[in-house]
Amino acid sequence: MTVKVHFVATDGTVSEVEAAPGESLLEVGQRNGQPLEGTCEGQMACATCHVIVDAADFDRLPPASEDEEDMLDLAYDATRTSRLSCQIMLSEALDGLTVRLPSGSRNMQGR
Ligand code: FES
Repeated sequence: MTVKVHFVATDGTVSEVEAAPGESLLEVGQRNGQPLEGTCEGQMACATCHVIVDAADFDRLPPASEDEEDMLDLAYDATRTSRLSCQIMLSEALDGLTVRLPSGSRNMQGR
């Protein structure tokens, strides 16, 4: 079983990609050429892996940890449905997930 994920680029282009359960959304995005830097490799220290989850899908995700929320407060272009893609582990329950790439990112590590 694969999990389908849709990435929506800033120009509205939708890419459908396939992922294996257990992969992080960041890994899948990077493998498919999405502009997700993920500078800190999932340590919740950079926010360059920020994505905006489709409002219809947001409630399917487990809630963000406090550390993730803190990092999202600093993310560029963050919205109510923002998440760090390195913290989203894909599973069959998330099949069809749609996320939008933000219009930019700010690397919290390089400052
Ligand atoms: Fe740095 Fe997700 S990769 S916070």
